[in-house]
Amino acid sequence: MNKNIRIIRPDDWHLHLRDGPILRAVLPETTQHFARALVMPNLLPPIINSQDAKSYRDAIIQAIPDGANFEPRMTFYLTEETDPDDLANAYNSGLIIAAKLYPAGVTTNSSWGVRNFEKVRTILDRMAEIGCPLCVHGEVTDPNVDIFDREAVFLDKILTPIITQTPGLRVVMEHITTKDAVDYVLAHNKYVAATITTHHLFINRNDILVGGIKPHYYCLPVAKREEHRVAICTAATGGDCRFFLGTDSAPHLDHHKETACGCAGCFTATNSMPLLAHIFEQENALSNLEGFSSRHGANFYGVPFNTGQLILEKKDTPVTFPKSLPTPQGEITVFDPGVKIYWQVKKMNET
Ligand code: NCD
Ligand code: ZN
Ligand code: ZN
Repeated sequence: MNKNIRIIRPDDWHLHLRDGPILRAVLPETTQHFARALVMPNLLPPIINSQDAKSYRDAIIQAIPDGANFEPRMTFYLTEETDPDDLANAYNSGLIIAAKLYPAGVTTNSSWGVRNFEKVRTILDRMAEIGCPLCVHGEVTDPNVDIFDREAVFLDKILTPIITQTPGLRVVMEHITTKDAVDYVLAHNKYVAATITTHHLFINRNDILVGGIKPHYYCLPVAKREEHRVAICTAATGGDCRFFLGTDSAPHLDHHKETACGCAGCFTATNSMPLLAHIFEQENALSNLEGFSSRHGANFYGVPFNTGQLILEKKDTPVTFPKSLPTPQGEITVFDPGVKIYWQVKKMNET
């Protein structure tokens, strides 16, 4: 028997849209299900000031398909040279709703990021003062730290000093992948929250490596052991308002992933919502899907809930999703959850 669930139209609080033809190809995948998204600033060159954020926002708005009702929300890419006044003006005027911290060298296009955290102290203090959240790619870059430990080490070595020195700074640990990060959020107050991606709810490190290397499962932070996947799954589906959806849908052309040195990122904009319904149903927590996808993040960012609803439907037989998205520059593989999925988006009502 078909089963429907209705949720407030969801938000994606961590999304990569890129620019140019890729932006135009991937954006409709997001606007068909999501009302808003926090768009990541790691373009080449990155979005580092008000002028960049305005022109990037204009480019995104231009690319919204006709009839879609979608609001991009912007961030700055923090550098050691970020001007605190420019950031405060951008935040106070509503141009941005957060700033993003990339430790230099940690991920795609992060070479402009922060090397010396002391150098951003003033800016972080200013952000705490005005209430602007800091979104962090929480991994250390120390070559001596094993890649599977980089998130856990970041918590102690970088994040704790930051929040101790700047109490009141609101922080989102982006795309968490470890039980350590879940426990860290739970042990802190409402100032520390975390986004969880769709793909990290499905895959562990065996899925990437056993039986041949799967470049389309390679993303950063890299998926960890099964016990960590279970921990983030429990956090996502458990109803705690400090955990919310940020898909980290990160499009890369297939020929950049299927190569000797493939880049990091999973593209999930197309099928995130059905995949999440699958996970929440499996955890017996379908009633918490709305909180995770549509309410907790809005509350954290202090924006109203969206109007309208997304209706998801469970079919009797497995559904299929496109294998890849064509773009003028090549194909982008859509994340394959590796299990049968019975959920699909039936309808989106915009009001
Ligand atoms: C992201 C990208 O491709 O921009 N890649 C990823 O593996 N998550 C960058 C990021 O969010 O770290
Ligand atoms: Zn990241
Ligand atoms: Zn990301």
